[in-house]
Amino acid sequence: MAAPHFLTLDRIRKDYGAFTAIREVSFSVAPGEFLGLLGPSGCGKTTTLQMIAGFEVPSRGRITMDGRDLTTVPAAKRGIGLVFQSYALFPHMTAAENVAFGLEMRWVSKAERIKRVAEALDMVHLAHLADRFPRQMSGGQQQRVALARALVIEPRLLLLDEPLSNLDAKLREEMQVELRELQRRIGVTTILVTHDQSEAMALCDRVAIMQGGRIVQIDAPWRAYDVPADDFVADFLGRSNRLPACAGGGQAEAGGHRFALPPDLADRQGDILLTIRPERLRIGNDGAAGLGGRVQSRLFLGGFWLYAVETALGSFAVMLQNTGTVPHDEGAPVTLNWDAHSLRRLERA
Ligand SMILES: Nc1ncnc2c1ncn2[C@@H]1O[C@H](COP(=O)(O)OP(=O)(O)O)[C@@H](O)[C@H]1O
Ligand SMILES: [Mg+2]
Repeated sequence: MAAPHFLTLDRIRKDYGAFTAIREVSFSVAPGEFLGLLGPSGCGKTTTLQMIAGFEVPSRGRITMDGRDLTTVPAAKRGIGLVFQSYALFPHMTAAENVAFGLEMRWVSKAERIKRVAEALDMVHLAHLADRFPRQMSGGQQQRVALARALVIEPRLLLLDEPLSNLDAKLREEMQVELRELQRRIGVTTILVTHDQSEAMALCDRVAIMQGGRIVQIDAPWRAYDVPADDFVADFLGRSNRLPACAGGGQAEAGGHRFALPPDLADRQGDILLTIRPERLRIGNDGAAGLGGRVQSRLFLGGFWLYAVETALGSFAVMLQNTGTVPHDEGAPVTLNWDAHSLRRLERA
């Protein structure tokens, strides 16, 4: 009988004495899905993962995998592959021996072991380093060994807890591409814990954004970015500008500038807090229609320019694509404008 969801957390709570680490978390993961658990440090990501892995016991609620209650299934019997931030390889074992270790624990025959270790190392492009010790490998290579060790047992579920956080920026980006490609290729259901919003958005089919032991939004990354559930999500998933305005008659006014509201906000009256992403703003010349301001600073980011424009409503971040020209100097008077459909309404915090 095929279960509609592969893994389900149903109203999970976790107390440590008087402290509640997880208030109430419910979500389901589809077979083959790559789900991200995203949130700031201390919001409960690792605790959630540890309960799925079987290293922590929920205080309340139920976890089921393939329709089966996991409560009484010990960690070692859950068929879960784990990779943590610290590589946690055995220093006295070669890459191949590290990968083989999980199989030895499972009484796999030697011939089978050799074959599967070779396959797993090949998957992470490390076949040529099978005989190296961890100290002879870079951080990225060690983390690939850790990944091979998790995959060699052919897990039904792969749990990754900040696996790339110890790597430098460039290597992290390379590994992100590789990890995504590998996950798609082998199709293993995966949960990735990270505090890095760009990493979660780049890798995952859906992201669950956590705050204070709860999930505040679970959605495709682009949807959560485009239509954030609240202030917290809007800020956590990237920069956003606040635009406090006064609405009426399908329009709004802010800082002396009148502008159209999107259809879903057309019937609003009175004070309204709007937000807009930096890449949805345009900078016009002084005197053009728009919200007046002055260029405060300008950072060159290669593919983009990041402007800070000071206005009567505060500073606005504006991301402009680098088209080969440098249109606005620091200190220049400018105007900001935007399309109505780029505006979102936020609940006042
Ligand atoms: N064993 C524990 N005993 C008491 N508090 C804990 C324990 N483990 C985690 N916590 C607390 O639970 C909260 C969530 O921790 P954690 O899940 O590690 O957060 P994250 O992984 O999102 O950074 C934190 O406030 C942390 O201090
Ligand atoms: Mg953690």
